[in-house]
Amino acid sequence: AMVEKGEYRHFMEKEIHEQPDSVQHTLSEYLDLVTGKAKTNAIDFAAVERIQIVACGTAFYAGQIGRYAFERLAGLPCDVEIASEFRYRSPAVSPKTLAVAVSQSGETADTLASLTWCKAQGLKTAAVVNVHSSSMAREAEVLWPTHAGPEIGVASTKAFTAQVAALLALAVAAGVARGRIDAAQEAELVKALFESPRLIAEALRMDASIRSVVQDLAKADDILFLGRGAMFPLAMEGALKLKEISYIHAEGYAAGELKHGPIALIDEETPTIALAPLDDVFEKTASNLQEVAARGGPVIMIAPENAPDPHGAGIRRIHAPDCHPLIAPLVYAVPMQLLAYYTAVQKGTDVDQPRNLAKSVTVE
Ligand code: G6P
Repeated sequence: AMVEKGEYRHFMEKEIHEQPDSVQHTLSEYLDLVTGKAKTNAIDFAAVERIQIVACGTAFYAGQIGRYAFERLAGLPCDVEIASEFRYRSPAVSPKTLAVAVSQSGETADTLASLTWCKAQGLKTAAVVNVHSSSMAREAEVLWPTHAGPEIGVASTKAFTAQVAALLALAVAAGVARGRIDAAQEAELVKALFESPRLIAEALRMDASIRSVVQDLAKADDILFLGRGAMFPLAMEGALKLKEISYIHAEGYAAGELKHGPIALIDEETPTIALAPLDDVFEKTASNLQEVAARGGPVIMIAPENAPDPHGAGIRRIHAPDCHPLIAPLVYAVPMQLLAYYTAVQKGTDVDQPRNLAKSVTVE
């Protein structure tokens, strides 16, 4: 059936607003809300020694967020690599590695070739894909579907959060299978994940505060996104979204890496956007923001209202919903998407069909 925009101005806007549903639907594939347990899935995580994720573009950042969860919750070493590098560099993979392709379309040439190569090495393979009839879905031994529904906007939004939701849920399952998570922790994590659709809906109401900063952002030539932990790959995804549709140069950086280079870029014209949920590294991120503000750089800090103000100030705040650290990448993805979307609308670009980009890259 034809997918319509309905009341929305762009498919991207519509797809951003579909995320409470698409995340809910995807989580239900992997977790049971009633029992508070991770469902059994086709992979025996206790027998896996390593995970190798391969992906391109936005799916690569989803994979990096997954990595933090697999290592933290399941003690499972996890590598994530851009498929176009992985496939040509003769990587050394150990036999008990599970190879995981992450892809919206399931057709990206480099990701598919990486998956096929892993299979030929005798590795177990799985694919997190949104198009369930795709080449990757057929090629991988195990299909881990996302349920984002058809995504029309070239810049990926709901497919990204569905990938993140699936990977976080699978990391919980892996933690249980490997004896790292007991029944009480499992119930707590499953509950936290199932709270994400409601908190994503709450994050969608940040659009007024986001719109209040886009006039300034639209004037910038360069924008820096900072985060720590899983907020680091999300910062890179936020920068990618902005580049893709507003054509403003942006970089996502690990906040702790700021002093090793990017701080040299800071001036009055270069905004910094910080992703600062109240997690175990909040204070570290806050002190990085003081360093930026002290050099005259405009700072927008996205953090929950109850987070303390970084001292030294001049820092503009946008309030995000307070949430369990596990689901922060899902909740904070929304302000990243809205920032890119409204900045692009402000600049008058073709949001759904940005120049030079294709929805899926099936040739090299
Ligand atoms: C293209 C799209 C991106 C997407 C990437 C990977 O570059 O424009 O939005 O993230 O391909 O696509 P895939 O279908 O493999 O997730």
